[in-house]
Amino acid sequence: VVNASLQRWVEPEETRRSEFPVAAGGVFLAHAGVAPLPRAAADALRRFADFGSRDNQETSDVWLEVAEARRTAARLIGAQPHEIALLGPTALGLNLVAHGLDWAAGDEVVYYPDDYPANVYPWLALAGRGVRPVPLRPERPGALDWPVVEAALTPRTRLVSLASCHYLSGYRIDVDAIGGRLHERGILFCLDAIQSLGAFPLLVEHVDFLAADSHKWLLGPVGAGLFYVRASRQEQLRPTLLGAWNVRSPHFVAQPEIALEEGARRYEPGSLNIPGVLGMSASLRLLLEAGVPAISARILERADALRAGLARAGFQLYGPDGVRRSGIVSVYHPDRDLPAVFQALQAAGIRASLRRDRAGRDLLRFSPHFYNTSAEIDRVLAALETTRLT
Ligand SMILES: Cc1ncc(COP(=O)(O)O)c(C=O)c1O
Repeated sequence: VVNASLQRWVEPEETRRSEFPVAAGGVFLAHAGVAPLPRAAADALRRFADFGSRDNQETSDVWLEVAEARRTAARLIGAQPHEIALLGPTALGLNLVAHGLDWAAGDEVVYYPDDYPANVYPWLALAGRGVRPVPLRPERPGALDWPVVEAALTPRTRLVSLASCHYLSGYRIDVDAIGGRLHERGILFCLDAIQSLGAFPLLVEHVDFLAADSHKWLLGPVGAGLFYVRASRQEQLRPTLLGAWNVRSPHFVAQPEIALEEGARRYEPGSLNIPGVLGMSASLRLLLEAGVPAISARILERADALRAGLARAGFQLYGPDGVRRSGIVSVYHPDRDLPAVFQALQAAGIRASLRRDRAGRDLLRFSPHFYNTSAEIDRVLAALETTRLT
């Protein structure tokens, strides 16, 4: 099925290369790492640099754009604008959750020790406040389904914090199924959404807190992100960082009382990362225009072609290939030297990621986005054949 709104960004090839400048320089398959900026986001940053060098960087027009960024981010996840704080990185949002809840000694928080570190340390650190961090132990890396989560719950479980998609295996959790069941039990659900947001549809119907920086699948600038807090949880989640922007301070004069701003702005203590927000907003508009369902279908097409080709070339798949698969394709090989393969690909103009799991196994991780072509995938698979000596 050809989706016209998506095709418009990638065809003809000249358009693809002008909308995604990285495509002119080689094959970029590392969106699960740090993504390159599309032209639209780069233009937004250039415009910011331009007007920000002629006048105060927070001229009045900028606030209209910031408000639009908040609305666009909300639309992407099915939230309301007053539920969005324009904060990155991911670690900041997750820490605001960990430190802002009113924990009681003996409370339990469920986490996954083999998650990306940003979604591990904030929960481990709660042990210092008498909270018990309860680790999930799936059979395969990142494979967190409801039975695995349910097995970790006790009457003391207050919160479960999961990644929407595992950064190494690419296992994409069923957010609605897990969130719905946690809510039936009155347990809070926190999501690190950076490895799926922008690539797969995600709604916060059963999510209380969500954090995602924009530098991966959202194609935004590093250090700009979004932090969602469900409206009905904003009284419960105390802002731990305070400043002139989230505490009412008329004329920038500090007041004797702490009166918080309304909505999720209460989590934004000081000046916003405006260039980042403007760049992120341009990327979000691009993704919404192309259409996230069409984007995910395209990503899976490319990732599946990689999975099949890599298997033919003797690589072993590290993650799932069924319904819980994503755009992350990590592989290992029984006898090839993956750091050398990674270097050879790099020399051939192909960008993948080299990662290592807890057991010390080298992994080659490919993560195509919707603008990668099938010809590019063929080129990668051909390069893997010609680099067979490594
Ligand atoms: C699952 C996950 N969470 C978070 C991050 C990034 O965290 P931060 O935005 O705090 O740098 C990554 C980056 O690799 C990730 O894979």
